Amino acid sequence: MIEKSKIHELNELKSQSRMGGGSERIEAQHKKGRLTARERLDLLLDKGSFREVDPFVVHRTHDFDLDKQKFMSDSVVTGWGTIDGRLVYVFSQDFTVFGGSLGEVHAEKICKIMDMAMKNGAPLIGLNDSGGARIQEGVVALGGYADIFLRNTMASGVIPQISAIMGPCAGGAVYSPALTDFIFMTRSTSYMFVTGPDVVKTVTHEEVTQEELGGASVHSEKSGVCHVAADSEADTLYLIRKLLGYLPQNNMEDAPFVNGDDPLRMEEALNSIVPDDPNKPYDIKDVIGLIVDNGQFYEIHENYALNIVVGFARLGGHSIGIIANQPAMLAGVLDIDASEKAARFVRFCDSFNIPILTFVDVPGFLPGTNQEHHGIIRSGAKLLYAYCEATVPKLTVITRKAYGGAYDVMSSKHIRGDVNLAWPTAEIAVMGPDGAVNIIFRKELEKAKDPVKKKAELVADYKDKFANPYVAAARGYVDDVIEPKETRPRLINALEMLSNKRDANPAKKHGNIPL
Ligand code: HXC
Repeated sequence: MIEKSKIHELNELKSQSRMGGGSERIEAQHKKGRLTARERLDLLLDKGSFREVDPFVVHRTHDFDLDKQKFMSDSVVTGWGTIDGRLVYVFSQDFTVFGGSLGEVHAEKICKIMDMAMKNGAPLIGLNDSGGARIQEGVVALGGYADIFLRNTMASGVIPQISAIMGPCAGGAVYSPALTDFIFMTRSTSYMFVTGPDVVKTVTHEEVTQEELGGASVHSEKSGVCHVAADSEADTLYLIRKLLGYLPQNNMEDAPFVNGDDPLRMEEALNSIVPDDPNKPYDIKDVIGLIVDNGQFYEIHENYALNIVVGFARLGGHSIGIIANQPAMLAGVLDIDASEKAARFVRFCDSFNIPILTFVDVPGFLPGTNQEHHGIIRSGAKLLYAYCEATVPKLTVITRKAYGGAYDVMSSKHIRGDVNLAWPTAEIAVMGPDGAVNIIFRKELEKAKDPVKKKAELVADYKDKFANPYVAAARGYVDDVIEPKETRPRLINALEMLSNKRDANPAKKHGNIPL
């Protein structure tokens, strides 16, 4: 029979550990508009599911009078729990203890959880709120980061890894989130940068605030480092829960099947969604909304490289990743940012057995010195490589333009597209009619008595010949031309037909994607 005093002692120690840096520091954290590490876990995980690991671990440093600090826990809370009943491993940095800084035992706690996540095949979620390497611990802190970076890299493509930035994340500390699959940021209270405003001022004499340097807006709109920016901490955590619903637990499993929308649903509205004028835009998100289950689309990188749209949805209950040119932004052209955004998404889906659906309406690559000088060749090749190597089921729908190299890149039949469909509005050609006629009939146009009339005739000829899907269909480059309204049932049927797809790449150590 265990003595009551022992149980009392245990409860006392646990409750001291749960207080982190103590009530004053908790209050200070709240005053900054931020929740504590444990409050965040309560919002993230199913009620009552959190099981903490290592609550009694405290730092072992004696330098700089660190042992005079009477904290009963270190600056990170770790363990596992469930989200919608599915196992996840979590760490949540506690800013109330040494500013959430990472020292030896902080890193050890995270590594232990990462190893468990890998061994047991479940996602890892890290909630970041930290002043970075614990300065008093010196190189031990740096080594701790490197131990985590190595595990992030080993876990890549094996288990989904998700990072939320909910406070400071600075210096080399940014590289653990950067190695994970998705970065969420909370607006107003989080920031990420390699070098802070002070360093920037010293080196470049530029005066910037933390927000301007690396706030959620900067990273979700300009740098593309952040995949999802949310208005509050509660929203950030809710959106992580939602994302997990589309993902499998690991690379050996399938994502959850969620039934709930008529697989045979026809959508008349799709028949009139593409404007008659090929230069008029329409919103590809309207097309996606009409086709996927219950119109629900979980967009990734919503505010970055708007000329391409990527995200998750379900078709007939199956989780899919969607990549779509966006004609409503820059005519859906492929540029550096769009290519990299889409390439990374394709690779994520391929790693985790999530079939890829591609909507094509692309006039080509963005011309100009800016793009050439910054390496559109290399970036375009990333997207091409990602599509070429992907072995998950690949479905493609050409809604309108599929011009030039971009036709090849966007999951064409030639690069192992499994089922490629076109709408009657599809135009598949080396380039648009105007540009093509200017090049191939330059001499005729110069000699013509009425060049405007002549050009109109030549453009009409060219359109008859190439600006349709039937030349490609006659060669089997598209598998079928379909009425837009039947797109949903056709795609669901194709997805189910492909459910036992097997395909593999040649054995190799790894390929050499043009990074
Ligand atoms: C030890 C730290 C700490 C750190 C904060 N604290 N950062 N302790 N190591 N890195 C402590 C503070 O001393 C303070 O303790 C408590 O945490 C809260 O910090 P405050 O400064 O009071 O909070 P706030 O005003 O909100 O400012 C937060 C902050 C600031 C912006 C993060 O603390 C800061 O600039 N910290 C240093 C950031 C930094 O340069 N880190 C190293 C980055 S280099 P008390 O006891 O007074 O409450 C790096 C390399 C990683 O991380 C390399 C990996 C490869």
